[in-house]
Amino acid sequence: MISIIVAIAENYAIGRHGELLCHLSADLAYFKKVTSGKTVVMGERTYLSLPHRPLPNRRNIVLTDVPDKTFSGAQVAYSINQVLEMTKDEDECFIIGGGMVYRQFMPLADKLYITHIHHSWEDADTFFPVIRPEHWHLESISENKADDKNPFDFDFAIYTAKR
Ligand SMILES: NC(=O)c1ccc[n+]([C@@H]2O[C@H](COP(=O)([O-])OP(=O)(O)OC[C@H]3O[C@@H](n4cnc5c(N)ncnc54)[C@H](OP(=O)(O)O)[C@@H]3O)[C@@H](O)[C@H]2O)c1
Repeated sequence: MISIIVAIAENYAIGRHGELLCHLSADLAYFKKVTSGKTVVMGERTYLSLPHRPLPNRRNIVLTDVPDKTFSGAQVAYSINQVLEMTKDEDECFIIGGGMVYRQFMPLADKLYITHIHHSWEDADTFFPVIRPEHWHLESISENKADDKNPFDFDFAIYTAKR
């Protein structure tokens, strides 16, 4: 099963200048809880944006087009098909970004773990594809209020593919 996990703003923004848009402590904890012990797949830019890499307690796979490139603590894949082959025996594999990689996996994904952030960033430069109700069923949603560690209201939503 292929799952996507991402935090998106109201305008579908996910990043700016190679970084996340904001720091939501509860979302980082949720990401860690959901992905620990699993495989995480990311583009080169997302790998390089991680403050501590590779992500611990997870099998890290980094997508790149550049032959012979290596990433400390991570396996390398050169195509989406290669990722699918490398993860075919796994119960759930997580696509963790960024924009370029999400767009390619969206048609293949079975499940979306979306953190909806109740804010918009007009100066963002990276966006998530629109989640179309004809393609995705909202399975669950839990609402959370802003507090001293989380600057905006946010919801944890899970969608499953309508197939
Ligand atoms: N809000 C969130 O939850 C979230 C999560 C993750 C990331 N982000 C943000 O997203 C932004 C980064 O996204 P991005 O779109 O710029 O970059 P990205 O998707 O992280 O990485 C793009 C790179 O991945 C490689 N790649 C992608 N598809 C490939 C394929 N099919 N085959 C081979 N290589 C492939 C290429 O690397 P080469 O150039 O080496 O060929 C490409 O340049 C950052 O701002 C980051 O903070 C946000």
